[in-house]
Amino acid sequence: GIKKFSAERRKALYYNGFRAINSIITDNSLNKPMITLGIESSCDETGLALYCTKRGLLSHALFSQVDLHALYGGVVPELASRDHIRRLVPLTREVCCEASLSLDDIDAVAYTSGPGLAGALLTGAMMAQGLAWAIEKPALGVHHLEGHLLAPMLEEKKPDFPFLCLLVSGGHTQLVKVSGLGQYQLLGESIDDAAGEAFDKTAKMLGLGYPGGAALSKLAEQGDATRVQLPRPMMDRPDLDFSFSGLKTAAITRLKAFSGSDTEQQQFMADLAASFELAVIEVLMGKSRKALKQTGLSRLVVSGGVSANRLLRHTADALQGENVEVFYPRLEFCTDNGAMIALAGALRLSRGESSGLGVSINPRWPLADLH
Ligand code: KG4
Ligand code: ZN
Repeated sequence: GIKKFSAERRKALYYNGFRAINSIITDNSLNKPMITLGIESSCDETGLALYCTKRGLLSHALFSQVDLHALYGGVVPELASRDHIRRLVPLTREVCCEASLSLDDIDAVAYTSGPGLAGALLTGAMMAQGLAWAIEKPALGVHHLEGHLLAPMLEEKKPDFPFLCLLVSGGHTQLVKVSGLGQYQLLGESIDDAAGEAFDKTAKMLGLGYPGGAALSKLAEQGDATRVQLPRPMMDRPDLDFSFSGLKTAAITRLKAFSGSDTEQQQFMADLAASFELAVIEVLMGKSRKALKQTGLSRLVVSGGVSANRLLRHTADALQGENVEVFYPRLEFCTDNGAMIALAGALRLSRGESSGLGVSINPRWPLADLH
C-alpha cells in the first residue's frame, strides 16, 4: 500500500538523501567502486544499464519502440511516454538480474534529463528520482548528447581527451571539440535537417519505412553511387556547418523525375540510395577533416545513430593512415541506450555532482551550457 510519511519522517529521509550523497563523495576519495544505474527515455528507446567505476559496464537492456511508431511514420510523443512507463520497471529488474545485484547495491541513479521529448523525459526522471529516494541514494540528470559524445569510452579502445567528435544522430549533426568532461566547444552544426533526419526522410520517399536510415544503407549496397549526381552542400565553405535539407530534396526530385519499367525503377532506387549515402558521408568527412586541421586534434570520435553506418565507419577509418586515431561506440551503442547515460552519469557523480530531489527536465538544452 501507499505509505504516508509524517513531516518528521519526510525530513529525515530528505537529509538521508544528502547523507547518501556525502557518503558517495567520501567513498570515492577512497576509490570505492561506485555502481550507477543509467536510464535513457528521451525519445523512442527505453534503455537501462548498470555501470561500475571499477568493473565497467555490468549489464544493459533496451526496448525499442520502433514498431509502435512505424505505423504513424514517425515518433508519436504521447505513445512514447506511455510505453516508457510500461518498460522502465521490468528493464530495471532485468539489468539488476543480469548483473546479479539488488536495488540496494546501486550507489546512484543517472537519467537523461534533456534534450528530448518532454513527456518521455519525465517518465525517466520520475523513475530515477523515485528510485533514488527509495534507496536513499543520489540521482543526477544527464545531457543526452554528452552520453553520445562519451559512448566510445565504454569500449576497450577508449579515446583520451582531447578529441574531435562528429556527432551524427536523428536529431543532431555537430562537430564538437571535447577537451574534458563538460568541456565542449561546438565548432559547427547542421543549419537545417540532421544527417539522420535526412536519411530518414529520403528513406521514407523510397518506401523504406521509418526510421529508414539503416534500410537505406542496406539498399545502397546494391546501388551504383556514381549514377545519380547529387550536390555536396556547404562543402566548399570554410565554416564547419552542415545543411542536408537541399540534398534530401534533390534526391526526392530525382526520384519523382524517373520513369522506367519496374526493374529499372528498382535499380534506380538502389543507385539513388547509394548516391545519397555517399553525398552525406563525403560532406560529413570533408567537414571532419577540416575541423581536425583547424583544431590540430589527432583523435576523432564518431558517435550517434548514424555512426552505425558501415560506409561512414569505413570512410572514417581511412583517416588512420593520416595519423588520426578513430573511435566509435559498438554498433548497439551508436543509437540511444542506457549504457552511455550510466557512464556519463558515473563520471559526473564521481566528481561529486548530483541533482536535488525535485524532478527536473530540460527538453531544449544546448550542449554548450554544460561545464
Ligand atoms: O542517436 P539516435 O538513436 O537518436 C537520436 O538521438 O536522434 O539516432 C537515430 C538515427 C536515425 O535517424 C536513424 O535512421 C539513423 O540514426 N541510423 C542510421 C543507421 N542506423 C541508424 N543512418 C544511416 N545508416 C545507418 N546504418
Ligand atoms: Zn540519441
